[in-house]
Amino acid sequence: MRQSFTSIRAEVDDAGVAVLTIDRPQALNALNATVMQEVVSACLFLDRNHPTAKVIILTGAGDKAFAAGVDIKEMAAVGYAEAYTSSMLNGWETLRSVRKPLIAAVNGYALGGGCELAMMCDIILASDKAQFGQPEITLGVIPGMGGTQRLARAVGKSRAMEMVLTGARVNATEAVRMGLASRVLPAAELLDEARKLAGRIAEMSAPVVAKAKECVLVAQEQGLNEGLRFEKREFWSCFALSDQKEGMSAFVQKRKPEFKHM
Ligand code: HXC
Repeated sequence: MRQSFTSIRAEVDDAGVAVLTIDRPQALNALNATVMQEVVSACLFLDRNHPTAKVIILTGAGDKAFAAGVDIKEMAAVGYAEAYTSSMLNGWETLRSVRKPLIAAVNGYALGGGCELAMMCDIILASDKAQFGQPEITLGVIPGMGGTQRLARAVGKSRAMEMVLTGARVNATEAVRMGLASRVLPAAELLDEARKLAGRIAEMSAPVVAKAKECVLVAQEQGLNEGLRFEKREFWSCFALSDQKEGMSAFVQKRKPEFKHM
């Protein structure tokens, strides 16, 4: 990537996997305004203007944190009028428009906004050092980047309530058991495994991957009837793509498909 950043690192490999690393390890990768602006801008660039990048991995620098939350030092003196009129933290919502899959490789603390950022991603892989939590209540606020909504959908009302009302953290094994993360991996293997997973997805037809992602997200956002209708339309529309012809011909001809991503 040609864009230059101060608080994140960005790279795209030959397999079509982009890795964005939040790079403020001295502050446990706390999410200040610059990190928000850079992560959002990099994701939008990779999504819209980088056809060879097919999947985006988000992780944190160092071995302690994915992100220990929104930057409390930056936030501490903000008043209500400023929070409201500046739509504080609303920039993160832009990530909802990213059509390429986002994988969170959670390598340590994912607290507050860090847990919420991981939950904005489509898949969460957790290292055995990961800790998830919504400690906002201990700071006199509530989650404000989707935590009450996405956590409740991911782990159910009672467990979400416990976490949000007490600020208690859960470890990686517990996070997987609750359905918050897919897998626990040894810390040293986390990024390699995330790259492998991303690489497998990157081999698929990019427009079909985008459709599949959108359908699963609709399941979280809408009722079953609308979701089933939406899925059927997206399924039918796959038959307009050359990749559907390629995928099915390859199966019939007993060979590996070569998707043209169109
Ligand atoms: C700013 C942070 C930070 C944060 C850690 N640091 N978390 N700075 N914002 N969220 C800084 C510390 O101040 C310290 O800087 C350095 O990172 C190392 O942190 P320590 O506390 O010394 O590390 P440790 O003792 O290992 O404790 C780790 C920790 C603790 C348990 C993760 O740092 C912690 O509780 N952090 C805050 C977690 C949190 O409450 N997150 C939610 C934030 S609110 P110095 O300069 O002292 O070395 C939020 C949502 C906002 O995210 C509401 C709406 C979205």
